[in-house]
Amino acid sequence: MIVCEPSGHFFALHTAHTTYQMAVDEQGHLLHLYYGPRTDASAVVLPPHKDPGCWPNLLPQEWPAPGLGDHRAPFFEPEFADGTIAADLCFESAEVRPGKYSLPGLPAFWAQDPQGETLSITLTDAAGLTVQLLYGVIADCDLITRAAVIQNTGSAPLTLRGVPSFSLDLPRKDLDFLTLDGDWAYERTPHRTPLRPGVQSVGSVCGIPNHFHNPAALLCTPDATETSGECWGMALVYSGNFRIQAEQSNAGVRFAAGIEPYHFAWILAPGESFTTPEAALVYSNSGLGGMSRCFHTAIREHLIRGKYRDMSLKRPVLINSWEACYFTFDEEKLLALARAAKQSGVDLFVLDDGWFKGRNDDTTSLGDWAADTAKLPGGVDGLCRKINDLGLDFGIWVEPEAISPDSELFRAHSDWALQIPGRATLPIRHQYTLDFSRDDVREGIWQQLTALLDSCPIRYLKWDMNRSLANVYSAALPAARQGEVYHRYVLGVYDLQQRLIDRYPDLLLENCAGGGARFDCGMLYYSPQIWTSDNTDALSRLTIQYGTSLFYPPCTMGAHYSAVPNHVTGHVSDPQARMAAALSGTFGYELDLTAYSQDQRAELREWSAFYQEHGALIRSGTLYRLCPPDGFGSAWAIAAPDSSQAIVFAVGAVLDGRSLPLPFAAQGCYEAEIRQTGAETSRCVQDGEALRAHGLPLPNLHSTLPGYICYLKRSSHS
Ligand code: GLA
Repeated sequence: MIVCEPSGHFFALHTAHTTYQMAVDEQGHLLHLYYGPRTDASAVVLPPHKDPGCWPNLLPQEWPAPGLGDHRAPFFEPEFADGTIAADLCFESAEVRPGKYSLPGLPAFWAQDPQGETLSITLTDAAGLTVQLLYGVIADCDLITRAAVIQNTGSAPLTLRGVPSFSLDLPRKDLDFLTLDGDWAYERTPHRTPLRPGVQSVGSVCGIPNHFHNPAALLCTPDATETSGECWGMALVYSGNFRIQAEQSNAGVRFAAGIEPYHFAWILAPGESFTTPEAALVYSNSGLGGMSRCFHTAIREHLIRGKYRDMSLKRPVLINSWEACYFTFDEEKLLALARAAKQSGVDLFVLDDGWFKGRNDDTTSLGDWAADTAKLPGGVDGLCRKINDLGLDFGIWVEPEAISPDSELFRAHSDWALQIPGRATLPIRHQYTLDFSRDDVREGIWQQLTALLDSCPIRYLKWDMNRSLANVYSAALPAARQGEVYHRYVLGVYDLQQRLIDRYPDLLLENCAGGGARFDCGMLYYSPQIWTSDNTDALSRLTIQYGTSLFYPPCTMGAHYSAVPNHVTGHVSDPQARMAAALSGTFGYELDLTAYSQDQRAELREWSAFYQEHGALIRSGTLYRLCPPDGFGSAWAIAAPDSSQAIVFAVGAVLDGRSLPLPFAAQGCYEAEIRQTGAETSRCVQDGEALRAHGLPLPNLHSTLPGYICYLKRSSHS
């Protein structure tokens, strides 16, 4: 619910459990008052003007502007034609609208009336600048979104050199900053540190978020745990260069995020406007777990679109050819893998990298999206038909943003690659990046993609992106507009993915970027699942999936059961541990099943059936992180919102005979079914209250990395 006082000078955004308040002060400036537990108190209590000489530096500003006395690190940087970098933004008007706003050309959470509402506040600067602040409220999920539309209302061009998606001034200083960081194969490891005076930030200048930092982070009170304490979480709905910063000053903490200002300069002609990407905010006073669950529900119900938004809809168990074949295969090898996969309960066969003209390693052919007939004599359509004849659906890998210097596409259109005139172009993984800011370049790739997707019934597409951007310069833009290329590139990716899902509404799209380098709310607007990491090792996945789950729900995490020793880490783990990790995501296989015996395939078939039986619960259930990963093990559960059923997963050293209290357990009895292997199960009955108070007894297991999976169902007569 949005309260906008008749005076138009006080605003409150209410969600089920939180409230966000703002007010306009005597000078006409919009101040932030409060973001915390729900309160219906509507009294306007403006912060005291402690020191009239330096007040802008102390006041909580809802949209901090530079140049006029707020000396905290500026994020918003409008440069007027006369060189002025300053803005004095005063309240002009406000409007409440039913339904949540959308953003043209940009991904955004969506909610129709009455689930969503919009507050639009317009601030103006007399020199010719208007900032329209957009607030979306999705009350049930405790989600508040923010974006802004900056308009040049003057008569000369204006350059935006920095623009945040949101800024939030909190009155306290003693907060922890938690970010998700890592590298290839170790994405989204949480790092939590107390804030110290000054600016602490994470971000990306790689053109994509990259492996190093995720565009989501949170502030929390030092006492915050999984189940208690206050958290302010923020996820950017954006897939390009970003910055998230937290600044501790004598006024408190300013938390802000948006497009990274480096190499960003957007020119607005008179009358033109710029729309920022969206930031999604959640406040929770029930710890990290409470915050995550709000993001999970919001992402599942108000970000993901298309038919796979329905979490009860069966998602295919897939086999991906990458770890089974890499680049070395022919049609016979693929068909043998498909036959073995069929016997293992797989529904969909995905042909990964290596299928197109001359692609035998990672040095060539990106951009030439037609079959290598040396490997696939009948083409992609011929292979697809044969896979379909085995009773499997077919999916394929592409990397549409990439171009190999050794490709027909590059020989025909070398100017399509991002490159700086007069300088050598840097290959990374032997490839360049196509200039997706250009309509003609995207159109060329679109023609190839549609030819491929129209050639046969392709049910799944893995859209990969295997390098960061460098040599960022567009031949299609004048010198003064080169600061727009990074953002226009991201808009180009969004444009092509939107066209794809419009034309192929039944296609299951999975985004990927060298593993999980582009795992963000922006991409989830287009694809319901994203490949989480190239590291499929069970122990590594405990941390990667735990970190990812701080913001993103299990249903979005591409997770596959793979072989041991693991292809990245060399670790060996028990099948149950690998199953626990894979079953807590989208579930599939990524290993050479032809090396498996009939008995082993029959066992995998039981696990595939387990996923199909409980997939709706895994995708739509509520995640409880019971023991965070400590390098040795971890435990978590996914429960139905009404506690009628749940699956408990435990991996590694937690399997030491301890009991695991289950906070979701309800009164009555639960039938517990413990999966020893795919086929072998043991059963017992557990009392709900005892489960909650004393816990589920875990076995004491002593193998390399043991795993334990227990399905609980509340008895109908309890
Ligand atoms: C990336 C992906 C992998 C695989 C390879 C193919 O690394 O993350 O899953 O598709 O590319 O080159």
